[in-house]
This record gives sequence, structure tokens and C-alpha cells, in this order.
Amino acid sequence: MSTACDTSLCLSTEGDSFPDLSHPDGIHARSANDVGTCIGSYRLIKVLGEGGCGTVYLAEQNNLVRRRVALKVMKLGVDARQVVARFEVERQALALLDHPNIAHVYDTGTTEDGRPYFVMEYVAGLFITDYCDRERLTIKDRLNLFTPICDAVYYAHQHGIIHRDLKPSNILVRVRGGEAIPVIIDFGIAKATSQPLTDRTLITSLGQLVGTPAYMSPEQAEMTGIGVDVRSDVYSLGVLLYEILTGRLPLDVANPGKIPLDEMLRMVREGAAPRPSVCVSRLGEKAERICRGRRTEPRALAKRFKRELEWIPLKAIRKEPDQRYQSAADLAQDIRNYLNGVPLLAGPQSLAYRLDKLIKKHLKLVILAEIFAVILITSVSIMFLFVEDYRRRTVQAEASLAELKADLKAVKEQKDQLEVAYLKTRAELDRIGGQRFRKAPQDDRRD
Ligand SMILES: Nc1ncnc2c1ncn2[C@@H]1O[C@H](COP(=O)(O)OP(=O)(O)OP(=O)(O)O)[C@@H](O)[C@H]1O
Ligand SMILES: [Mg+2]
Repeated sequence: MSTACDTSLCLSTEGDSFPDLSHPDGIHARSANDVGTCIGSYRLIKVLGEGGCGTVYLAEQNNLVRRRVALKVMKLGVDARQVVARFEVERQALALLDHPNIAHVYDTGTTEDGRPYFVMEYVAGLFITDYCDRERLTIKDRLNLFTPICDAVYYAHQHGIIHRDLKPSNILVRVRGGEAIPVIIDFGIAKATSQPLTDRTLITSLGQLVGTPAYMSPEQAEMTGIGVDVRSDVYSLGVLLYEILTGRLPLDVANPGKIPLDEMLRMVREGAAPRPSVCVSRLGEKAERICRGRRTEPRALAKRFKRELEWIPLKAIRKEPDQRYQSAADLAQDIRNYLNGVPLLAGPQSLAYRLDKLIKKHLKLVILAEIFAVILITSVSIMFLFVEDYRRRTVQAEASLAELKADLKAVKEQKDQLEVAYLKTRAELDRIGGQRFRKAPQDDRRD
């Protein structure tokens, strides 16, 4: 590495307030020797971290602009020409990426000893998983932190760029003005540094290059490079979401030393992930710590995941790309759907589910409607009873009237009969009276 850069512009590393994100694994001792030296016009200030591909330094750019950058130097043995050539293919598209949640990639080049390097925006922050745990974010806050990441990945996809290596170490959370902003790093770098594989030896060497395959989609684990598209990033986002929610990976492939790489890749292609609610109920002694970090307790967490919330990561990590969310935007949308209480894309298409969601979302309205319905039904019932009573009374009155009419008619008939009888009697009396009157003169003559 060159030491001949212009040191007059270098920033002091004394009293440097940048957080040291590196892990105390001893690797830095070698890389630390490079601190103070220059690569091109970048002076290395300190080691930020070391991944499978190489070492990342905090560096100071001192030619065109003076700024702090992250400089990632690949390991020796990587074909620098190929890496730079592959990077050049996407360089133009990468330059056009302008998103608050995506770190800029400024430059690329080759060191004097033939190692490719990338110059990126420096992001002072923690891995997203560490940030969530340190801040003890609730499930809701974790979801709210995660959705802008999906939006940013979708934005990059719209610009024709697939990340291919989304994982906690590539998503750092920086805090600005009290606001936590997740920033995705390494866009465009995974593609440039990926290598075609032909045999097991190469797979093993790739194992060192790519780190854990835990976030790798099944089609990436095929190692052919065929069939990798935006849905591979959706898969990695699904794994990340699963981990942010449960504190566990969906597939237990995080220990490269313990399981042979080809076995790990087979697990990625074929292994089944437990449902988050089941995963949480199997946490054992870790449950307490994981739940404390989410401000909840084990039973409540398992209940929270049951059904809807676990459908989301499970859909994102389906083995078949066609069965996953078809875009990072759909994944973001479903998280928002969950937070807003509307039916999920990952949910069943049944009317019962949709109706259930509708009722839950508009619970206050539903209660009001129910009260209104009860009042309405009660009033109608009371009115019905009144009407029924009135109808019954009317029928009774009509029956009584009919009876009276019948009685009257009978009385009238009796009266008519009496009249007839009276007239008859009268006529008879008249007739008898007349006879007597006519008889009397004869009697007189006999005397
Ligand atoms: N732009 C950046 N700003 C701040 N820190 C960074 C930046 N890029 C990388 N780092 C730090 O350097 C570390 C190493 O990064 P690197 O990309 O080499 O490895 P990784 O992402 O952890 O794993 P892998 O090599 O498998 O991709 C990261 O974990 C992070 O802490
Ligand atoms: Mg990285």
C-alpha cells in the first residue's frame, strides 16, 4: 500500500468519536498495520470491520473533495480486473441511486498490490439487529424501522440493481436529529465480487467470500447464478424480518464452521423454517432476554406472531420465487397493511378473513351500528306489539259488533214475528167480535 498521499489534509484520528463496529476477533491486528497508509488518494484512518471479502477502513478522501469515506479492500486472490469490470457494468446505474436509505458508492479501483477496492459513503451506526436490541425496540417499532429498507430496495430494483447480499451487517442504522435511519450499504458490490463456481473447492472458497448463507435465497444457493432476480432480495429481506422479529434465523445455518458449506446450501434450498410463533415458544432460556429486548414476555410474543404477523416473513422466504412477494414494495405494503389492520396480501383470499379484518378495523363503527340496530329492532318490535294489540282489539270489536248485529237482527225478527202474531190475533179478535155482533139481532127476534 502506498504511503505517499498528501498527509496535510488528513483528519486526526485522535479523539475520534466514530463508533468501532468491529468485532474483537483478532483479525484487525493485520489490517491495523495498514492504518495511516494511503490507497490512491484515500488515507486509511482506522479499521471499521472485516468481512469475508476483505477489510473496510474509515478513510479520508483528499483530492476532489475532502470527506470521510468507508473504503473496502478485497482480499488478495480475487481477480481485480474481473471485479472492477463487473462493477463498471452497474456503475452508471449505481451513480443514479439517490435515496436516503442507500449509501452511495463513489469509486472503485485497484491497490498497488492488485486488490480491488470500493469507496463508499461512511455510515456511522450499528447493524440493524444490534440497534433494535440495544434500543429495546417493540415489535411495532421494529416493523416501522424495517419498512423503509424494503422501500429502498424496491427503489434500487426500479433502477435495475439487485443487492444480492442483504443481511444485518449490510444495513446500518444511523441516528440523526434523534431519528433512526436505516442505511443499506454494499449495493452493487456483491454482484461485482461474486464468482462462478464449478466444484466443491470453489464452493468452500466462496464460503469464505460470502460469509454465512443464512440470508441467501434458495436460487442463490444453487450457485449457478441463474434465476436470481429481485425476488432473491425479497427472500433476504424476509430472513432479516424473521430475525428482527424473533431474534432467531429461520434456518439454523449461521455457523459456517460447524456445518459443511454444501450441507448449508442444501439446507437453504430444502430446509423448512418454523413458524415464528413456534420458533419463539422453543426459545428456552433465551426467551427471557429476547422478549426483554422487545419489551414483552414470551407468551405475549408468541401470541403476537400467531397468524398474521408470521404470514409476512413466511411468504417472503418461500422457496419458490413465484410464491413470494413479487416485489420489495409488496412486502413493505403488507407490513403497512398489518400495522393499519387491513387484510394482508399474505392472508387467505376468503371472504370470512376479509370481513373479520373489516370488522376489527372499524370496531367503533361496528359497535355503534350494533347499538343502533338493537334500538331499531326494539322499537320495531314494540311498534309491532302495539299494532298487533290494536289489530286484536279491532277484530274483537268487530266480532262483538257482528254479534250485536246478529242479536239485533234476531230481536227484529222476533219483533216482526210478534207484530205478525199481534195482527193475526187482532184480526181473529175482530173476526170473533164481528160474529158476535151479527148473532145478537137473531137472538133478540126469538125473544
Ligand atoms: N459504508 C460503511 N460505513 C460504515 N461501516 C462500514 C461500511 N461498510 C462496511 N462497514 C463495516 O465494515 C464491516 C465489514 O464489512 P464487509 O462488507 O467487508 O463485511 P460484511 O458485510 O460484514 O460481510 P461480507 O464480507 O460477508 O459481506 C461491516 O460489518 C461494517 O461494520
Ligand atoms: Mg458488507
